[in-house]
Amino acid sequence: MKIVAFAGSNSKKSINKSLATYASSLFEGANTNLLDLNDYEVTLYSIDKEEVDGIPLPIKQLASQLDEADLIIISLAEHNGTYSVAFKNVYDWLSRITDRKTFGNKPILLMATSPGSRGGIGVLSAAHERFPRDGSEILDVFSLPSFYENFNADKGITSTELRTELIKKVNTIKYKQFSSFYKDDSFTCGIDTTKDDAGDAIEY
Ligand SMILES: Cc1cc2nc3c(=O)[nH]c(=O)nc-3n(C[C@H](O)[C@H](O)[C@H](O)COP(=O)(O)O)c2cc1C
Repeated sequence: MKIVAFAGSNSKKSINKSLATYASSLFEGANTNLLDLNDYEVTLYSIDKEEVDGIPLPIKQLASQLDEADLIIISLAEHNGTYSVAFKNVYDWLSRITDRKTFGNKPILLMATSPGSRGGIGVLSAAHERFPRDGSEILDVFSLPSFYENFNADKGITSTELRTELIKKVNTIKYKQFSSFYKDDSFTCGIDTTKDDAGDAIEY
């Protein structure tokens, strides 16, 4: 099983990259290709540039990476309520390759995080509404609010409630989409999702 994961950000310290990395680690045994949008920085999209020079090579290379994925994990940075410029530029260029869907028709686990309490819900809503029109099925959506209170570089998501929410979503994706790869006891990520840190049962 091959995962391509990336953040919708060009920040070298991207919190969304941390979240995308963490989420991909929950798919144990998968071959994960963690991409960085800085490696695909191209000129600002313009119809005029496209007509003269065509699709930039890094965008074609990114499309090839996406085409190899069984699952794409994207965690979007929110800038002024929507996509970062870095992501939108890549997104627009990708959408211009002929005879190809923007994300290669691959299923997507869509996420966002921000330091604020809304957890990037604006950009998440925009992408959730839009990406299926690009041909990709959104398998699930996850927002991590207040990143710096709820995430630790070593432990990942520290809030039991939020960690459990993501793990449940990951487990459902494993069960529904990749059951031949994940068999039986792999579905729990090695974590007891029925109890919180205090050992009390979690109501689902
Ligand atoms: C230009 C700009 C606009 C921003 N707008 C928002 C916003 O609308 N909502 C929000 O929650 N955070 C906003 N932020 C804060 C980002 O969520 C924060 O910088 C976060 O670290 C971005 O994710 P990244 O680290 O993955 O790039 C903004 C940051 C910048 C630089």
